[in-house]
Amino acid sequence: MEYQEIIDRKKKIVTSAIKAIPDPIIADVKKRYAQKCKRSVQYFERAKQVIPAGLEHNLGLLHPYPLTMKTASKASIWDIDENEYVDYMMAGGPIILGHKFPQLDEKVIALIENYGPSTGLTCESEILCAEEIAKHMPSVEMVRFLASGTEADMLAVRVARAYTGKKKIIKIAGSYHGWSDQFLLSSDYPGTGNAHASGIPQDSYAHTIELMPNDFEGLYRLFEENRDKDGIAAIIAEPTGGHAGTFPNHPDWNKTLRKVCDEFGALLIFDEVITGFRLALGGGQEYYNVLPDITILGKIITHGYPSCGAVAGSREIMSVCHPGGTHGKKAFTGGTLSANPISTTAGYYSIKYIEEYGAIDKASDYGDRITNKLNELFATRKDLPFFAYNIRSIIHVETACPSGAFLVSKDIDSQLAEQKRRAKAAEDIYMALLDQGVLMLGDCKRMYTCMQHDDASLKKTLNAWENVLSMIPVEG
Ligand SMILES: Cc1ncc(COP(=O)(O)O)c(C=O)c1O
Repeated sequence: MEYQEIIDRKKKIVTSAIKAIPDPIIADVKKRYAQKCKRSVQYFERAKQVIPAGLEHNLGLLHPYPLTMKTASKASIWDIDENEYVDYMMAGGPIILGHKFPQLDEKVIALIENYGPSTGLTCESEILCAEEIAKHMPSVEMVRFLASGTEADMLAVRVARAYTGKKKIIKIAGSYHGWSDQFLLSSDYPGTGNAHASGIPQDSYAHTIELMPNDFEGLYRLFEENRDKDGIAAIIAEPTGGHAGTFPNHPDWNKTLRKVCDEFGALLIFDEVITGFRLALGGGQEYYNVLPDITILGKIITHGYPSCGAVAGSREIMSVCHPGGTHGKKAFTGGTLSANPISTTAGYYSIKYIEEYGAIDKASDYGDRITNKLNELFATRKDLPFFAYNIRSIIHVETACPSGAFLVSKDIDSQLAEQKRRAKAAEDIYMALLDQGVLMLGDCKRMYTCMQHDDASLKKTLNAWENVLSMIPVEG
């Protein structure tokens, strides 16, 4: 689906009345779910005693109870009560070969048997994994591994500042670049600023400038305004648009970011935590044909094994990183378990297998199929403005609450109240899908696919959606 159609259809949803599953029906669904998921309910009660809010993973914020999982295989996942789900969470993005991919697991087990988890000294897998990334990603010559995407985001901007000698970073509102102080700014809803900010001093945002998605004029204005101040060190952006395309990029946006960075001597940072090795072997930069100066990689390069982030780029820029080095232009780079042998072994073989099995194209073909089929299904209900769009294996399904359509500028409170009403209707739909055995990504409306989603997954997913749509009263 083209950019303009996506934007228009999101706007249509937020300007139409909310289409929701009536409360008595959703109450029955919740009752049935609590019956089916008795042990998950018990685990949740137990977890609440020792874990704040009863859960650690914000991907699993499922209402009314988060599921506790038992096992996973290929494109399916089973909860502790033995209920089976077609999984579209894919651990939040990293799984593309399918769950428990035996060839990969064998390599990691062999590494542990031979080497143990970590020695603190160099292991060959670090070099192999870095070589593999550099082989595929067009802008990459060197790679520095870290423990998470959040850490990689933090290092990337430190490198950009050390390299350019400038301080300010432009962050596109509605993007998520991890949970460090400087980046928890309008992460979900553009314009909401520091709504996540308890515990974060206002000063932490002193050098982060928020820019609305696709604001071409604002982009140039910010560079002009900061020309004589500290200057802009970098723009950080997801090449799809924020949260892997929830706020889709205008087709000219990435090229414009590249151009303006070149004009003003700033660096372009692509956060490819989701898009790297999912959109293409060369990531979003290959798929959109726009090369960043710095690339951030995350969980997909370990295919779900803990724990990985990486910052990558040209030899010249990456030479700024230095373990412990603080003299001159060096950026202190640390992390006891960074580049640990388990992560880098998993990384090296994941990339090899993703290439060997054609995982990206297979997951992407299924992404196209499920998106088309969902749109055919939605078209049978003319009274519902629902629609789906995909960027290869990243699928967005919009029902009641298309977050990308909420660009909050003024009157934040009333817009957030409307967003909350809509989010409840969307959550009910996802709850009903879960009850039908389809697991989407937490509260959001995203689905990730892997190369092992098949005809059976498609059939089960479409049946579930058909049943859920039938719960929403027909109007007109
Ligand atoms: C684009 C993007 N950047 C950074 C992160 C943070 O990565 P991590 O959760 O490994 O810290 C995420 C997490 O989903 C992400 O989607």
